[in-house]
Amino acid sequence: MDNLYFYVLPILFLFLYNVRLYFLHRIQNLPPAPFPSLPFLGHLYLFITRKPLHRAFSKLSKRYGPVVFLQLGSRRALIVSSPVIAQECFTKNDIIFANRPNLLNGKVFGYNYTSLAWSPYGDHWRNLRRISSLHLLSSHKVKMNSNIQADEARILIRKFVRFANDNPNKAVEFKWILFEFMFNVITRMITGKNYKLGAEIFREITSEISRVTMEANVEDFLPFMKWFGFKNTEKKMKLIQMKRDKFMQNIIEEHRSIVLEDDNVKEKSTLQILLDLQREEPEYYSDETIRNLLLVLVHGATHTTSVTMEWAFSHLLDNPYILRRAQDDIDTLVGKERLIDESDIAELPYLRCIVNETLRLHPPLPLLLPHVSSGECTVGGFRVPLGTLLFVNVWAVQNDDEKWVDAEKFKPERFEGFRGKDELKFFPFGWGRRACPGENLAMRVVELALGSLIQCFEWEKIGKIDMSEDKGIVTSKIHSLIAKCNPRPSVYNLINFVNK
Ligand code: HEM
Repeated sequence: MDNLYFYVLPILFLFLYNVRLYFLHRIQNLPPAPFPSLPFLGHLYLFITRKPLHRAFSKLSKRYGPVVFLQLGSRRALIVSSPVIAQECFTKNDIIFANRPNLLNGKVFGYNYTSLAWSPYGDHWRNLRRISSLHLLSSHKVKMNSNIQADEARILIRKFVRFANDNPNKAVEFKWILFEFMFNVITRMITGKNYKLGAEIFREITSEISRVTMEANVEDFLPFMKWFGFKNTEKKMKLIQMKRDKFMQNIIEEHRSIVLEDDNVKEKSTLQILLDLQREEPEYYSDETIRNLLLVLVHGATHTTSVTMEWAFSHLLDNPYILRRAQDDIDTLVGKERLIDESDIAELPYLRCIVNETLRLHPPLPLLLPHVSSGECTVGGFRVPLGTLLFVNVWAVQNDDEKWVDAEKFKPERFEGFRGKDELKFFPFGWGRRACPGENLAMRVVELALGSLIQCFEWEKIGKIDMSEDKGIVTSKIHSLIAKCNPRPSVYNLINFVNK
């Protein structure tokens, strides 16, 4: 009998707890939620899985509909996986959802809550966004810095040539080389200088931060876990943050002395402009604000673009006829006397299709960045309370087989005749006020790097290419791509020329 109570009472308690939730949900007109919800944990138990979060969310949406309401420990969350409802969130409710959640006591990824990507919607965010657009990311600025992008593309080619010459018959690993390429592009655009050793330090710091952030997130959703030793993450995070701050502070100090020495430099770098602003308004443009802004920009640029290039190349090697067609296009347009440059990109629509198809299958931020509601609103006819986290599953929308023919296949042709954006089906850079400000730069640099590698080398894959996705905020490959590369005979002179 005692045993019976032991089993029956908790089940009865859980049942009544959920019946109460069910009626509260109906009365409050909240969106559908999975059954059951556990005391304290809510629906967190659903995500103790090896699957990446966007796939787990997509499975829930298939069962409960395009708007799902979750209780994630102490936080409420809305999961949206329909383009029409995403449109409602980023048009009618755009201002309400223009906020970011205050996770990790205001230190998401170790960034201060006032940094561009994590800042609450308001004047400070608007100002940081304006400065980044005006002095770094506008089409004019991106074009002005095309010499840096072209120069780094040549350095990238040179690295692969060196590898092929020094290691005949060996396979080259892409991940790190592509990360370094993008790090060099963005830091040179920001500072006007090349920080050769910076890429390696920055890569170590960001991978440590991503790892600790995953651990620290537990405290966000289950605050009581602090009592069970999870506090350690705070210490770990502080140590890594100190390393990263020191890294950027050193760069700032170096530039401060340049600015003080020469006030009349003609073309000022983004960092020099920020230091000028600091001299005018030292309190607002503190070192911390400048540091966080620059770190967010470097962080936002490197991982997203390097994983896109790696996924694109994985598919190209897996589909040699697509690689051949892209190479033929480049040969026809550019010829054999020169390397591809940014002015060719607009004339290579198939290359753009390859990049778009990669971003469709593997949006680097498959759930965008989290948004949070700053007021009550309605979404899909349901009530959404203040303070609800919003995750828009762009991966689910872009891989929905009702909207895309052969959705799981890599078919760049599907983007032929596609003009710019189709926000109802394809929005890898987000949507609305908080959409990515770096889209223009990202597309240009990814296309230039891919085009250069396609033009200059013959590629050979090693065995079957593993397309498994790793868990994490940015979707990268579990196993880094490796392949054999041989400089093409037709461009050998060109590469030798570059190699001098
Ligand atoms: C393939 C490359 C890239 C992709 C797919 C991408 C995608 C995104 C997405 C989905 C968001 C979140 C939008 C939202 O929450 O609604 C975002 C935000 C952001 N991205 Fe990118 N991004 C890329 C490259 C870049 C680059 C090159 C930069 C800058 C140098 C950059 C800087 C940022 C910043 C600062 C934010 C935060 C914006 C804000 O909160 O106001 N990104 N990006």
